[in-house]
Amino acid sequence: MEKHNVIPLMGFGTFGRNGKDGIDAILCALETGYRHLDTAQTYDTEFEVGEALRRSGLDRDAVFLTTKISTDNFGPGALVPSLERSLEALKVDQVDLTLIHWPSPNGRIPLEVYITQIADAQTRGLTKLIGVSNFTIALLEETEALLGKGRIANNQFELNPILQNKKLANYCRQKDILVTCYLPIARGILSDEPVLRAIGEKHDATPEQVAIAFELAKGYCTIPTSGRPERIRSNFKASSIRLSPEEIARIETIDRNHRVVDPDWGPKWD
Ligand SMILES: NC(=O)c1ccc[n+]([C@@H]2O[C@H](COP(=O)([O-])OP(=O)(O)OC[C@H]3O[C@@H](n4cnc5c(N)ncnc54)[C@H](OP(=O)(O)O)[C@@H]3O)[C@@H](O)[C@H]2O)c1
Repeated sequence: MEKHNVIPLMGFGTFGRNGKDGIDAILCALETGYRHLDTAQTYDTEFEVGEALRRSGLDRDAVFLTTKISTDNFGPGALVPSLERSLEALKVDQVDLTLIHWPSPNGRIPLEVYITQIADAQTRGLTKLIGVSNFTIALLEETEALLGKGRIANNQFELNPILQNKKLANYCRQKDILVTCYLPIARGILSDEPVLRAIGEKHDATPEQVAIAFELAKGYCTIPTSGRPERIRSNFKASSIRLSPEEIARIETIDRNHRVVDPDWGPKWD
C-alpha cells in the first residue's frame, strides 16, 4: 500500500494547458494547493509543467510529477531515450510516475516489447513508479505475467459519475493498483445531472465538485483541469467535501457508461 500513500489523490490535468496561458494555469494550480501534475509526451506540456514548478518556488520533491509515454516511442530501444527527453523538457532528474499512455494501437507492437522497457526505465532511476493508462483487465493480467506482481502502481482511465467503469476499477482495487480518473468532470457536462445537483445543494457545492468528491471518496486519484483560475480553485476545494455513505451509494446509481474517449484503434473495453 505504500505506493498509494505517496501519490497525491488530488491532481491537476495538463491536457490543453500549453504556452504562456498553460504555465499561468499550472502555476495557479500549484498556488491553490495541487501537488500532483499530470502531463504526457503527446500533450506538449512537459516544458510548461517544469516551468510552472520552478516559478512556484516549491521544492522538487513537494510536487508529484506524472508523465506518459507516447505509443510512438514503443519500438525496441526507443522508450528510455524518449523518457530522457521528457526529463530534459521538465528539467528534472526523475519523474515520480511514468505511464504507458495507451496499449499499442491495434496491438501492433507486442506488450512485452514496451512493458519491459518501462520497467528498465524504472530500474535506471528515471522514474520512481511505473504504471499504465487505458489498460483492460486482460492487458493488466498480461503485464503481471511479464513483470511479476505489484510492479504496476497505477492505471489511468476514463471514470466519472456517468462512466464508473466498475469492473475494471474493482479489478484494480483487488490488485492494489491505484485508479486515476481522467475526464473526472466529464469535460464539464455534469451540470444538469439531478442527483449531483441535489447532493451539491446539501454541501453548497457544484455538480463538478460532487463528482470530484465522489472519486476521492472511492479512493481514486482524480486529475481535473481548467484554464480558469476560479474553476481551478473550486475543483480543488472539492477535496474538502465529505459525502455520506448514502450519497456515495446514490451517485453509484447514475452510471450510464457514457464514454467519450474511444478511439477505434484502442482496446475493447471491459
Ligand atoms: N490517459 C489518457 O488517455 C487521458 C485522456 C484524457 C485526459 N487525460 C488527463 O486527464 C485530465 C483531465 O481530463 P480532461 O481535461 O479531458 O477533462 P476534464 O478535466 O473532465 O474536463 C476539463 C474541461 O471541463 C471544463 N471545466 C473544468 N472545470 C470545470 C467546472 N468546475 N465546471 C464546468 N466545467 C469545467 C474545462 O473548461 P475550462 O478550461 O474552460 O474551465 C475543460 O474544458 C487531462 O488534462 C489529462 O491530464 C488523460
